[in-house]
Amino acid sequence: MVAGRIPQGFIQELLVRVDIVSLIDSLVPLKKAGSNFVARCPFHAEKTPSFSVNQKKQFYHCFGCSVSGNAIGFLIAFKHLGFVEAIEELADFAGMDIPREASADNTGLSKSELSRLFQVMEQVANFYVKQLRSSDHGKKGVAYLKQRGIEGVIAQDFLLGYAPENWRILLDQFEQHELVQVGLLGINDKGDYYARFRNRVMFPIRDKRSRIVGFGGRVLDDALPKYLNSPDTVLFHKSREIYGLHEVIKANARPLRILVVEGYMDVLALHQLGLTYSVATLGTAISQSHVELLFRFSPELVFCFDGDNAGRAAAWKALSVVIPLLKDGRVVRFMTLPQQHDPDSLVRDEGAERFVDRMVYAPIFSDYFFAHYENDLKATEIEIRSRAIKEVRAYLAQLPLGAFRDEMFERLSGFIKRQVVDSDSDLAYQSQQKTYRRKSPRPSLPSLVMAMLLQNPWLIDIVEQKELDLEQLEFEGVDKFISILQVITEYKPANCGLLTEIFRGHADQAIIDKLVSLDLLIPEDGVEVEFGDALDKLLVMARAVSTDRLLVRAREKELTPEEKKRLLQMLADK
Ligand code: CTP
Ligand code: MN
Repeated sequence: MVAGRIPQGFIQELLVRVDIVSLIDSLVPLKKAGSNFVARCPFHAEKTPSFSVNQKKQFYHCFGCSVSGNAIGFLIAFKHLGFVEAIEELADFAGMDIPREASADNTGLSKSELSRLFQVMEQVANFYVKQLRSSDHGKKGVAYLKQRGIEGVIAQDFLLGYAPENWRILLDQFEQHELVQVGLLGINDKGDYYARFRNRVMFPIRDKRSRIVGFGGRVLDDALPKYLNSPDTVLFHKSREIYGLHEVIKANARPLRILVVEGYMDVLALHQLGLTYSVATLGTAISQSHVELLFRFSPELVFCFDGDNAGRAAAWKALSVVIPLLKDGRVVRFMTLPQQHDPDSLVRDEGAERFVDRMVYAPIFSDYFFAHYENDLKATEIEIRSRAIKEVRAYLAQLPLGAFRDEMFERLSGFIKRQVVDSDSDLAYQSQQKTYRRKSPRPSLPSLVMAMLLQNPWLIDIVEQKELDLEQLEFEGVDKFISILQVITEYKPANCGLLTEIFRGHADQAIIDKLVSLDLLIPEDGVEVEFGDALDKLLVMARAVSTDRLLVRAREKELTPEEKKRLLQMLADK
């Protein structure tokens, strides 16, 4: 259960963010089969697929060679990685940074030290604001912002500032090592300190909890580099943060939609013209963690891209990032700008109303996706059509289960004028079910109860309603039952993949994995009732075992008063 330097909380978050189906599918193409995804097992040679991945459980299992595990376990086994390496791969896949620094120099960084660093950031931001407003040099900054059309209110709301050429005044107010820790000072080869931001307009970057975690800074002329950002620090992880999100939430906690653009200046212009639901990634491609973060605040995301080839490529990249996250109810649109414009120039040029029109009517994901393939899907050459079908299916297979997925497959069927795909693996599913039934004996009652609980951790509610006296319970495997209850109560895991992670390295890991892999063949809406029944039976059985034991003991020696009371009560209950 020990995760080394990587905090358990991060591992849990990672397993929530990553979908095991899209992960495995990127390495071993999967086919949908009933409620599972199947493939020929990558861990043993076989002709028919018995390797199965369950999205709900977030767990894989091979009915042929019995390997099983969660997303981390898969990477360890498939790529022959160590635990930490597997976490790194997975974090990469999810576009998340491992908060390693935080844990690595845990030696130094307590909670209060961290909050001190946040305080430093806040004070530095205010220092930059003051420099902009009231220093002689700051006038250059003000002039630049004016020339870019930024109004005073916006500058105020976004806490825009100016980093002076003479950075040593920072040292009058802040500790050198703190400035180094937050990335404002660097050290060169000679061991001299230098300031990262000099003579730049400064944009503080806040995290979703409104804390300033980093800065962006723009030169006032054509010098290079045009923009600089804070380096990754204990506070700042560039690939995770989103510029403007704090201001968006401040304007409206639940915006109808969020517009995602590229640059700082774009966000400022859009907010100024009333599109207060605009954010920017920090010059990086949009990642799954960006998208998940944004979907927490709004059900609709509009991605804005340049009208050139690079823009089209970036749009397709975003599309493939977002596919596995498109649960029912989530909407994504792709807005393409006219050539030679960015959102800043366009919204100022044609005004907010026309810009909003473009945005509202921007192609929605499904149309954008099929428009890309339409010609090929309708081609007269079978070769071209089949290539397109193959590609489309590979993309659609990554969609989460749901009505949207079904509809997308339906639309593909419409293009090729026959029923396809999502059903094509039903046969594989049926044969898989048959082999399973042949191989597995019915599990014992305690195993059945534990398996149901492991596979549906929310059933803990039903166990809690029974107010069990755990110390009095006796049946085979009761220790495991109790440790499962404790883990679920403590961690409230969202799925089995997460739950089994907690048992990694534990003596019971193999048994837990086996119970998770058991196909119980219970329809989803029957789980609760079946579990209630099975649990009741188990409790009756446990009581019988307990009564028998007491009776046997009573024959050998006098029972304690407590035991007597219990025995009498149990006999009366019978
Ligand atoms: N960016 C960056 N580093 C760079 C260049 C760009 O981090 N060297 C990021 C910034 O977030 C910037 C965004 O990419 O806002 C878009 O860059 P670009 O299109 O070059 O600039 P604009 O936003 O149009 O900036 P401006 O209008 O100020 O020229
Ligand atoms: Mn621009």
